This record gives sequence, C-alpha cells and structure tokens, in this order.
Amino acid sequence: MQEAIILVGGKGTRLRPLTNHTPKPLLGVAGSSFIRHQVAKLMAAGVEHLVFATSYLADLFEDEFRSFSRDLEISYAVEEVPLGTGGAIRNAGRLLRGPSDAPVLVLNGDILSGVDLRAVLEQHEARRADVTLHLTRVADPRAFGLVPTDGSGRVLAFLEKPKTAEECVTDQINAGCYVFRRSVLDAIPADREVSVEQETFPGLVARGGRVFGHTTADYWRDLGTPLAFVHGSADLVTGRAASPLVGPPAEALIHPTATVDPTARVTGGSTIGPGAVIGPHVVVDRSIVGERVTVAEGARIHESVVDHDASIGSETILREAVVGCHSHVGAENELPAQLRLSCGIRIPAQGVRVSGTAAACPTAH
Ligand code: GDD
Ligand code: MG
Repeated sequence: MQEAIILVGGKGTRLRPLTNHTPKPLLGVAGSSFIRHQVAKLMAAGVEHLVFATSYLADLFEDEFRSFSRDLEISYAVEEVPLGTGGAIRNAGRLLRGPSDAPVLVLNGDILSGVDLRAVLEQHEARRADVTLHLTRVADPRAFGLVPTDGSGRVLAFLEKPKTAEECVTDQINAGCYVFRRSVLDAIPADREVSVEQETFPGLVARGGRVFGHTTADYWRDLGTPLAFVHGSADLVTGRAASPLVGPPAEALIHPTATVDPTARVTGGSTIGPGAVIGPHVVVDRSIVGERVTVAEGARIHESVVDHDASIGSETILREAVVGCHSHVGAENELPAQLRLSCGIRIPAQGVRVSGTAAACPTAH
C-alpha cells in the first residue's frame, strides 16, 4: 500500500489576512481548496493511505475531508505545538503502516507541481536511496533550499534559505516533495522540534546517506505568497498547470451561482466564486474573487484576491491586492500595489489614490 504524508501545519503568515481563519492549504484555487488538488494528484499516483501533519487550525482539515472517498484512507497527526517540518514528518510517521523499508511520499502542503510522482518513486527504488528529493530550477533561489548534486544526481549539500551571495551555489532547489525510506524517517528525533531542511537533510548528507535528487523542468510553484497564489490558481484554470479536478483550459472559472454582467471581462484564468456579483464594465484579470463578493460597475481587479463577502465599489482599481473577508472598498479608490486589507476594513469612496488627481477637498478653508 503506497502511503504519503502532507505537511500542513504552517500558519501561512505571508498569506494573511486570507489565512487568519483558513489554513493555507484550505484556501480556494481554481474552484477547490488547494489541498484537494494535491490529494487528487496523490490518489492518481496510487496513494491509498494519507497522513495529514496538522497543527494550525487542525480541526478544519478533518471537516474538509469528512466522508471524502472510499479509495483513500486519511489519518491525522495533530501537533499541539508545531514540531517543525522534520518533527512533523516523524510524528506523522507513527501512523504509517508499511514496513521499515517502504517508500513514503512526503509533500509540503503549498506546492503546485506537474512532477510525475510515480517517476520519483521509481527513481528512489532504482537507486536504493534513503531519501529522494524532487528538485527544480528557479531564477531566484534565495527563498528556497539550495540542493547541489553531482553528475549521478547524488545530493552534495542542502543549504536552506542562503543569506549571502557566496552561499547561492546553484539555482537548483528543493521542490518540497520527497520519498523517504520509512526507517530513515523513523530515525528523526521524536522529543523536540526538528527542521528537515536545516537538520535532517544536511545531517544525512554529512553522514554519507544515500540522498538523491530527481530534477525536472515540470511546472512548479510554491503558493506561499499572494502573487504566487493568484498565479497558481490562474495557471490551473488556463491549463498551464494541471490538476485532475480542473476541466479543459479556460479564460475563467465562473461558479454557476455567480452573476456576471455581459459587459464585464473576466480573463487570465480568474475564478469567480459562488454567489458573487460582477457588475457592468468590470475587468477581473488573473484574480480570485471569493464567495458572495460584489464588484460594482467599472471596477478593475488585476492579480488580486478578494476574499468572501467583501465588496468593491464602482471604478475602483486593485493591483496585486489582498482584500480580507467582509471588507468594503468604496467607489473610485486606487489601492497601491501589494496592499493587504485586513478583514472587515472599510475604505470610503475616493479615500485612496496612487495616480491622477485626488478628489476635491470637501472641507471649507
Ligand atoms: N505539521 C507541520 N508542523 N507543518 C509545518 C510546520 C510544522 O511545524 N512548519 C511548516 N510546516 C509546513 C507548511 O504548512 C508547509 O506546507 C510546509 O511545511 C513548508 O513550509 P513553508 O513555510 O511553506 O516553507 P517554505 O516555503 O519557506 O520553504 C520550504 O519549501 C520550499 C519549496 O517551496 C522548504 O522546504 C524549502 O527548502 C523549499 O525549497
Ligand atoms: Mg512554502
């Protein structure tokens, strides 16, 4: 029986305020919670038993997967106090059933990836590896774990989040998907917090363990920041990224209960959630508009997330913005790029502008 662990205990701080009430893996992308896309991919690769390593808002995962599918057994390893990525893997390992030499898939809970999981498993077996890491190449590796390999794919070092230019020895990074031989995972210390990136992997390499990389050029994105999150969702809708849960490539995914005025343009892989109302001449491009959101006439929303029950006034412009749930942005605002609006905030009409003329002064001088 193929088993897997998904690490979903992080707080998702870079995605606040969206993650104030919802863990990052349960946020909606392309019409489903992100974690459902990952679970569907694991099932397609033959996984029959999955352990969620949870901590932050742990109960919500059990709510999401109650009565899910007979083809997948799901267990929950809940950390009262977060154990770090290595501690979480070790803790979840207690619930595995396979023998000590069984290969166990381990995934970070925020990776959208086109990698062929069966191929990673096959390479792991063929090399009789202790651990196999999926690796990918990125333009700027500084936010990731750097993993140089030799000509045979053997891992030479593991450098998590390099601080200096000298440490940036490669553009090849840890893609957050591993196969562990079960006995290797069971050897991680169980009595304290452990980082798999800062302790387990560098330690295994230093001790001469059989740690190999499986480098591919498949689609890959970590959805941990707002812009990456909206781009990942849009890529699923337009077909750049694949998921068993998404239909044929489209310009937009509009929920059947949403109302979109015929003069509005919803493009670039945008998602419009249940009950949302999109007014005349609105532009929504490469964005996620949540449940029951209303967008008034002429507003323009680019590369942004508008969380459930928020409202956007007429002629307002959002760029790379995150608007928290139940917020209201009045008419004729232009929010600065990358602004995050907390849940329940109200911006009056003509309150904020980046360019052009501000509204006339309403007070007497
Ligand atoms: N259960 C549990 N407990 N899960 C945790 C904990 C914990 O204490 N800490 C983090 N996680 C989970 C997060 O929920 C996420 O799914 C995953 O572990 C990785 O954490 P991130 O916070 O997203 O890490 P990152 O993106 O900065 O870096 C990681 O991913 C990169 C690839 O995207 C590292 O693994 C890097 O080496 C890697 O390159
Ligand atoms: Mg991440």
